[in-house]
Amino acid sequence: MERILVIGANGQIGSELVEALAAQHGAHNVLASDISTTNLYNAARYTTLNVLDKDALCKIVTDEGITQIYQLAAMLSATGEAAPLKAWTLNMDGLLNVLEVARERGAIGKPLRIFWPSSIAAFGPNTPAVNTPQMTVMDPTTIYGISKLAGERLSEY
Ligand SMILES: NC(=O)c1ccc[n+]([C@@H]2O[C@H](COP(=O)([O-])OP(=O)(O)OC[C@H]3O[C@@H](n4cnc5c(N)ncnc54)[C@H](O)[C@@H]3O)[C@@H](O)[C@H]2O)c1
Repeated sequence: MERILVIGANGQIGSELVEALAAQHGAHNVLASDISTTNLYNAARYTTLNVLDKDALCKIVTDEGITQIYQLAAMLSATGEAAPLKAWTLNMDGLLNVLEVARERGAIGKPLRIFWPSSIAAFGPNTPAVNTPQMTVMDPTTIYGISKLAGERLSEY
């Protein structure tokens, strides 16, 4: 039985994903979370969580016996360009907190499965748009794209 935490659940992807996960795993096994105090899409289970607060994240993972995390909290393209340092901090430190909690849980025999979306923004103007090879040029030009490319490498690491 999976116990699932969705971070950034009030967003475009999260709002759809929580519903789909609840249908698949049972609403009582899916905990929606967002920095907002408002349960915007009436998730069956909802909590406020700032992904940059690692202690709070750890507590939820332990208390709820979480086995999977979907980390969706991010600043995207145009918003990121308006505040690049803020975007970098949220996108990278948020992911790092989740990966670090997974590493710590793994070390005590309680593995966590992490899902984290990258983006087409990880590619740039020199990436061939037709017949794009699996290994290709990745030269993102936005802070959002740069954080996604770094996040891909970090997750593999
Ligand atoms: N929407 C797309 O088409 C698309 C495409 C590719 C990848 N993605 C990726 O999917 C993920 C979600 O995208 P989205 O479109 O749903 O974004 P969104 O902006 O709609 O939602 C992001 C959510 O994160 C929350 N959030 C912000 N700061 C937070 C924090 N510190 N702690 C917790 N929550 C916080 C926001 O309140 C918001 O509800 C992102 O990583 C994005 O890069 C989205």
